[in-house]
This record gives sequence, structure tokens and C-alpha cells, in this order.
Amino acid sequence: MASSSYFLLAALFALVSWQAIASDPSPLQDFCVADNNSRVFVNGVVCKDPKDVTADDFFKAAELDKPRMTNKVGSNVTLINVMQLAGLNTLGISIARIDYAPLGQNPPHTHPRATEILTVLEGTLYVGFVTSNPNNTLLSKVLNKGDVFVFPVGLIHFQFNPNPHVPAVAIAALSSQNPGAITIANAVFGSKPPISDDVLAKAFQVEKRTIDWLQAQFWENNHY
Ligand SMILES: *[C@@H]1O[C@H](CO)[C@@H](O)[C@H](O)[C@H]1NC(C)=O
Ligand SMILES: *[C@@H]1O[C@H](CO)[C@@H](O)[C@H](O)[C@H]1NC(C)=O
Ligand SMILES: *[C@@H]1O[C@H](CO)[C@@H](O)[C@H](O)[C@H]1NC(C)=O
Repeated sequence: MASSSYFLLAALFALVSWQAIASDPSPLQDFCVADNNSRVFVNGVVCKDPKDVTADDFFKAAELDKPRMTNKVGSNVTLINVMQLAGLNTLGISIARIDYAPLGQNPPHTHPRATEILTVLEGTLYVGFVTSNPNNTLLSKVLNKGDVFVFPVGLIHFQFNPNPHVPAVAIAALSSQNPGAITIANAVFGSKPPISDDVLAKAFQVEKRTIDWLQAQFWENNHY
């Protein structure tokens, strides 16, 4: 008896502390629909008066059904975060549709505030993430329609469509109302102003002119 209540307590404590360290803070009421017009800054967005909240605050019409134009790297991420859907405020979740051209990719990037779970709707994807230092192990997989893969919070990950003829489509859920994205190449070689080429030449162990060439490229984003 004593040991089973100890177990229950331990399980409860684990649950509570897990919630406390989950990506976004847990809501303290049913919802906190973002008031987009408030000039007050908080960690998140201030709540709209619950009396003024309607179903439309939780709704986004026909947004993720349409194929998207892809960019230079061959992808387009359509993210529905709290900026697009005010009802997501404080709920710790968002959703994205990702379109991949034949041989297109969602290049190596990280989400500083979210774990991502992805499923393939159409086509095939080669996906992976790299563990943190010192091991930097690549964990990768080829996904077919209906397969599911998880990218842990903060880790560098990518998706690539290996098919030269057929596009691919994925849906991803992310454990933040505002996951953020850092595309590695864009952040490192496309920062404004540029990072000193002395720094990058040493960091990447290449000639400065290689860095200058990389910095001269147009680092287009695939999130809009
Ligand atoms: C993504 O697709 C939309 C709709 O086709 C388009 O307006 C937008 O420019 C595309 N973004 C990128 C980065 O290709
Ligand atoms: C909130 O405001 C931003 C910037 O003014 C706008 O881009 C966005 O669409 C608005 N979001 C909602 C849910 O109204
Ligand atoms: C990292 O690599 C070392 C040496 O190969 C190994 O002993 C250790 O288990 C690895 N750690 C993880 C988390 O994979």
C-alpha cells in the first residue's frame, strides 16, 4: 500500500515536472486567444476578452489543402502559428504543410522552441537529424506515405525528396505556438551584416575566398 502510493506520487511528480519543462507554458484557463491589437508585450500574446471570442478565433479556412510553389531549394513551408491563428496562443502547438519539388529539400534547420512530428501525405522523403556534440550522430530514415518521424527540439534536421519526377507533401505538428526556424546556411552565410570571413574561414576550415563566395549567394528562405 505504502509503496503503491509512493509510486503514484512519483508518477504525479514526473507528470507535473514534465509539464513544467514542455516547450510552451501550460494555459491557466480554457484558452487565451491572442489579442493582435494589444500594445502590451508579454511572453506570448495577451488574451482577448473571452466574451468576444468566437469559433472563428480557432479556425483557418482551407489553408493546407493547396499545393504550393517551391523555391530554389525546392520546398515551401506553410506554417500555421499563433500569428496566423490567434486561438493557438498559450496552447503549445502549431501545424505546417511542407511541399517538396522533385529532388527538392527542406534544408538543414532547427526549431529553437519545438519538437516536430511529421507524416508523409504524398511521395517519399529521406529525413534525418543530428545529435548534439560531441557525437553528432546522424539518425536518418526513408519515409513513405503514412510513415511518421520525430525531430527532437533544437536538433538540426532536414527532409529531402529523392524522387526526380514526383513531388512530395508532408504535414508536421510542432510543440510550440511559435516554433521559430533557423536555417543553418542562411543564418551562417546570409546574416546581415555578414559574420567576418576570418571567423567563418577558421570555423569551416576553408579558404576565405570560399566563405566570400558563399556569403555572396542569395540565401532564400523556404518559410514565408
Ligand atoms: C510558397 O507558396 C506560396 C503560394 O504558392 C507563395 O506565395 C510563396 O511565395 C511561396 N514561398 C516560397 C518561399 O516559395
Ligand atoms: C496579427 O498581426 C500581424 C501583423 O500585423 C498580421 O500579419 C497577422 O495576420 C495578424 N494575425 C491575426 C491572427 O489576425
Ligand atoms: C557517443 O560516443 C561515445 C564514443 O563512441 C559512446 O561511448 C557514447 O555512448 C555515445 N553517446 C551517445 C549518446 O550516443
